[in-house]
Amino acid sequence: MNALEIRNKYLNYFKRKGHSIIPSAPLIPENDPSVLFNTAGMQPLVPYLLGQKHPSGTRLADYQKCVRTVDIDEVGDNRHLTYFEMLGNWSLGDYFKEESIAMSYEFLTKELEIPAEKISVTCFAGDSDCSRDDEAYNAWKKAGIPDERIYFYGKDDNWWIAGEEGPCGPDTEMFYDTGKEKCSPDCQPSCDCGKYVEIWNNVFMEFYKDKNGYSKLSQRNVDTGLGLERMTMLLEGKETPFETELFYPVMEKLIELQKVDDIKSRRIVAEHLRSSIMIVNDGGRPSNVDRGYILRRLIRRMTRHLNKLQIDLNKLDVFLDVSIDSIKELYPELVNNREYIKNVIIEEKNKFVKTLEHGEKEFEKVANKTKNSGNKVIDTQSVFNLYETYGFPPEMTEELAKEQGLEVDMSDFQKLFKEHQEKSRKGVEQKFKGGLASTGEKETKYHTATHLLNAALKRVLGDHVHQKGSNITEERMRFDFSHGAKMTDEEKKQVEDLVNEWIEQGLEVSFIEMSKDEAIKSGAECMFIEKYPERVTVYTIGDVSKELCGGPHVKNTSELGHFKIKKEEASSAGVRRIKAILE
Ligand code: ALA
Repeated sequence: MNALEIRNKYLNYFKRKGHSIIPSAPLIPENDPSVLFNTAGMQPLVPYLLGQKHPSGTRLADYQKCVRTVDIDEVGDNRHLTYFEMLGNWSLGDYFKEESIAMSYEFLTKELEIPAEKISVTCFAGDSDCSRDDEAYNAWKKAGIPDERIYFYGKDDNWWIAGEEGPCGPDTEMFYDTGKEKCSPDCQPSCDCGKYVEIWNNVFMEFYKDKNGYSKLSQRNVDTGLGLERMTMLLEGKETPFETELFYPVMEKLIELQKVDDIKSRRIVAEHLRSSIMIVNDGGRPSNVDRGYILRRLIRRMTRHLNKLQIDLNKLDVFLDVSIDSIKELYPELVNNREYIKNVIIEEKNKFVKTLEHGEKEFEKVANKTKNSGNKVIDTQSVFNLYETYGFPPEMTEELAKEQGLEVDMSDFQKLFKEHQEKSRKGVEQKFKGGLASTGEKETKYHTATHLLNAALKRVLGDHVHQKGSNITEERMRFDFSHGAKMTDEEKKQVEDLVNEWIEQGLEVSFIEMSKDEAIKSGAECMFIEKYPERVTVYTIGDVSKELCGGPHVKNTSELGHFKIKKEEASSAGVRRIKAILE
């Protein structure tokens, strides 16, 4: 049974059981900067688990695209994945343990036709927060699982929460017995020797945990998660997900084109390729912060391992196509986005390739120096230099080091990183200020007018407008911004009029200092967010404009005079340039 058939069977089964099928949320959570990626099917449903009414009712099912990055460094072994698909069904204050367990058992044994004797289950053993889960135990007995295949474990194994705070509760997990020999007489589902593979987790969410402890939710929910890749592996009779139809076309192509044989590198390439494709498809872009940084790490690590296999890096194009083709039936939207996805990933690879070779040579030098001096640990400064000069994420240097039996010292990395950020911030501000190096009265005025122009362009042309550059002299201001088309005379006039209206209103210009995170959350505009330090200054003009900026500015817009656009022209692809004066 292939992945698509399993997914379809799952959704059809739960539909027959009265569930509404809801669409997968994007990998990148909407309106939630606190989470980098959706890590479980329940993540987009938290408000409904807490009691809000879901428009589709109290029984839901879906497939959810997920990325978990905690195990990113483990990828390359026979099971870890960063991207995976989770099939899930939910009861929002509707059915509870008995019905949930009965449905899971029926789906596994009747729909997927897994022999009942291959299934073992685990239940919560109980502690001071919550008693032993006899209700789940009885439900399993009733479904047909005998005592010898029911195990009880504590919170480490049978309690589920996403992170530190949120809805949570005891869970019951289902395991598939691969038929391998027990690794020891007391080998059990909790053992990770590979005999037992976890296939499904049903969480009975009736608690909420915060820093004060556990409290009861207003309703009793069920949240389940079944990993599609793992189930496909078992039902296709494979030992690892990399041998399933989801990965083997890429794995085969790698074998065909490689000059060096290394299964770990092949798995890393195949896995990171798929995650990167899915992240870019849902709007991710490589950068130096947060989600963008994870994507960058995935693409860079994948590139390095292609290199290790001595595969021509220009062949990335081929692997992207093969990878997309192996999953396009599951995610048909990839077909329309194919060229875009390929461009983003290839562009990032190209950026990295230039420095990869030099960087690896430099790393060899550093590694040899470390070994020759009788050391086993590469010092922080060297790790940082590899990052700054060659774009080696520290995690990658660590991986390279491990391959040679070395470690890395990361103790001062953050400090060096901050110092470096501070230096480049000053550089950026200097550039940003343009002629402001000799900040005179006139330049200060132009600086404030720049914020007004930025805000006016956004209102007239749309939210896609962002500052791309600025240069100020005593005579004029020049402002580059993202916009695809030449501005019409009407648009230019509207922008001019808006700026002049704000000048006439005599708006107050003020600033406050805050953390970078707060600034981003408050919606402040900013040109190169990753180049700013942790504490930033945010300038506000009335309720018209809010931007991260080093200043200086006038105190009130009434000081600016009259604003006039002299010229509007193309600057580069997708970027327009305005020259304007204050008179
Ligand atoms: N939320 C549960 C999990 O991720 C189902 O395992």
